[in-house]
Amino acid sequence: MKKNIQTISITSGKGGVGKTTLVSNLSYCLAEQGARVLILDGDLGMANVDIMFGKRARQSIANLIAGEAGLEDVLVELTPRISLIPGGSGVYGLHNLDYVAKTALMDQVSQLEDDFDVMLIDTAPGISDNVLYLNSAAQECVVVVTPDPSSLTDAYALIKVLHKRHFENRFSIVCNLVRDEQEALTVYRRLSDVTSQFLCVSLNLKGYVPLDPTLRKATKLQQLICQAEPRSPSSLAMGSIAKSLCDFKYLYEAKGGLQFFWKQLSGVA
Ligand SMILES: Nc1ncnc2c1ncn2[C@@H]1O[C@H](COP(=O)(O)OP(=O)(O)O)[C@@H](O)[C@H]1O
Ligand SMILES: [Mg+2]
Repeated sequence: MKKNIQTISITSGKGGVGKTTLVSNLSYCLAEQGARVLILDGDLGMANVDIMFGKRARQSIANLIAGEAGLEDVLVELTPRISLIPGGSGVYGLHNLDYVAKTALMDQVSQLEDDFDVMLIDTAPGISDNVLYLNSAAQECVVVVTPDPSSLTDAYALIKVLHKRHFENRFSIVCNLVRDEQEALTVYRRLSDVTSQFLCVSLNLKGYVPLDPTLRKATKLQQLICQAEPRSPSSLAMGSIAKSLCDFKYLYEAKGGLQFFWKQLSGVA
């Protein structure tokens, strides 16, 4: 059976909860564990994964869609094992492409299938159609929450629309910016209490990342905490989340693979 790329979106109801931090550091950890990682930066307003790696993307999917560039021109090599597709607002132009253009794009995408093991998708926060498309196209959806009450209500709103409109019924949860494990469990239980009361979905706590001043410092210096301070509490936490993310049984699931992801996203039947 052909191996498929595992596609995982990192998403949230509310902004500033640590999505880009997680996408970048988890990618780093997965690469350290031997995976070849593709990142899709799908945040409209704040496409900044490249900056986390100290690079600057010059083109994006928008150039690809406009026919000004091929996928290989748009792709940015962040490290030898991590590449980035700068998406930005371009990602959402996919839906408006005609059939021929979509098929041509699929051909290009399928060539990447053999080059990577996992794709992490950094989404914008909220419940706009764009965010919903990215999340529903991905095989696994990781919702990031923090102890901030509005982060919980916004996460619930996101899970609810993904379930009602896109029939998603399985979500992974990561609690970020928590004091300790106890607080992570409290946050997780609050969310799972409301979802189990009102929705028929299953939540799975993937892990938590403590509030770590060293992380903030590293980000300011444009360093990845997992690389700069691998023994810091947040690095250790993200390392263990990365281990539990790459569950290779998913590689053979029907919803896997890059082609499936892009077909869902662009609406090719
Ligand atoms: N566990 C953490 N400890 C301390 N600071 C954090 C942690 N996670 C994220 N941050 C900081 O919070 C801010 C927002 O994180 P970011 O990843 O950009 O969020 P998002 O992508 O969800 O908007 C950044 O300044 C980041 O360094
Ligand atoms: Mg971000």
